Amino acid sequence: MRFLDGHEPDHDLTYDDLFIVPNRSAATSRFDVDLASTDGTGTTIPLVVANMTAIAGKRMAETVARRGGLVVLPQDVPLDAAAQTIGFVKSRDLVADTPVVMSPNDLMAQAQSLIPKRAHGAAVVVDDGRPVGLVARNVTGHDIDMFTDLRSAMTPIPVVLPAGTDPRTVFDTLTDANAELAVLVDDDGALVGVLTRTGALRAGIYRPNVDAQGRLRVAAAVGINGDVVGKARGLVEAGADVIVVDTAHGHQEKMLTALAAVAGADLGVPIAAGNVVSERGALDLIDAGATIVKVGVGPGAMCTTRMMTGVGRPQFSAVAECAAAARERGAHVWADGGIRHPRDVALAVAAGASNAMVGSWFAGTYESPGDLHTDTSGEYKVSFGMASKRAVAARSATDNAYDQARKGLFEEGISSSRIRIDPEHPSVEDLIDHICSGVRSTATYTGATTLQEMHEKVVLGVQSAAGFAEGRPLPGGW
Ligand code: XMP
Repeated sequence: MRFLDGHEPDHDLTYDDLFIVPNRSAATSRFDVDLASTDGTGTTIPLVVANMTAIAGKRMAETVARRGGLVVLPQDVPLDAAAQTIGFVKSRDLVADTPVVMSPNDLMAQAQSLIPKRAHGAAVVVDDGRPVGLVARNVTGHDIDMFTDLRSAMTPIPVVLPAGTDPRTVFDTLTDANAELAVLVDDDGALVGVLTRTGALRAGIYRPNVDAQGRLRVAAAVGINGDVVGKARGLVEAGADVIVVDTAHGHQEKMLTALAAVAGADLGVPIAAGNVVSERGALDLIDAGATIVKVGVGPGAMCTTRMMTGVGRPQFSAVAECAAAARERGAHVWADGGIRHPRDVALAVAAGASNAMVGSWFAGTYESPGDLHTDTSGEYKVSFGMASKRAVAARSATDNAYDQARKGLFEEGISSSRIRIDPEHPSVEDLIDHICSGVRSTATYTGATTLQEMHEKVVLGVQSAAGFAEGRPLPGGW
């Protein structure tokens, strides 16, 4: 990474402050770019989903891992529930998506409330273990109301194929049948999953993030209080592939003690820890046993830390400094927070991050755990910060009312924010396409074929607010 004409900035910068200068490039196709990380997490795209309750659940975990990313389950989830989610993710098919499954006796109302939990827009009706019909979203008609049972409302399945059918064949079969969704079954005719045309295309583009046994990978977070080692061990025994030791102020003694204990337990998985924003902070975490340092204080969309405390640091400079320090020790960093455009992921990689962590942006997708709401502006979900009154109340649910209320007085996060479902990108997979398309293109502009090369070759310039504004498209035209 270097700055245009050697103009090293004399102040800290964030993503919006920077532009990337195109280099002479021999690249011919953006599909030749390898987006895999080398930080031990197995990601094949540089995306980790933040351990936030409103974002990182089981559907997010399976979907993102299938495309090569990694989801971190939040530390507030009790061990048994986290273990269940990990088991679910590990049992998922690497190609087929998990559909909403209904029985013929279920009602239309039940199907319609569950279908938006998946992006493919349909539920599979299963009878006696066999898929027998489909119910699409928003079905209306003469004889169909919300109290109709699915036996009467379902439509025949247009394409049923054996699981393991080559995705290209699935795509072609769907095209020939003029259908959108294929149901995949095992040798006994039992439901394995579903695949859309776009899903079949994606299966040929992305590589799933899989463990040594060929199962989807998933990470889990622990805090720094209580039996941290016991919980971390339990999560790894349940199958967690990465442990994240997480607290807002990662450069504190309690963190270093907890982290050293987790690292000392030799759990056999990469240990990420944070958050910090300085070289000293990164090195102290690495010395305590972190192989990945989580960087970012205050850039998050739900964070009020900087406004409340003045503490934090512009994210690009924080990532660049910590990544340089980590690299010296053979460790890595994740750029955590403030990702709002594909360019931010490219700039995080340019700064030296092995992965960018995304939270709130992914809250507005069908795969996030929250319920889908609709208002006059369209569909949305509700997100909240992990240091907000709402998250703190959930975390201290076993406290007495007085202690709960007392903790709630000191929040450093937003308790409720409507995150719009972008009609152009309603699924997290659409956003992943969007981000990866941008990052792949950045790589070809910089003449890189890997993330590491992108970091090495990138030439950056510092821009004014007008420079950033100039680069924004005019959505409404003139
Ligand atoms: P984005 O911008 O992707 O950032 O939503 C995700 C990261 O934000 C952090 N986070 C918080 N920070 N108060 C904070 O100061 C909060 O309530 C809060 N919730 C999340 C966290 O690092 C996450 O990964």
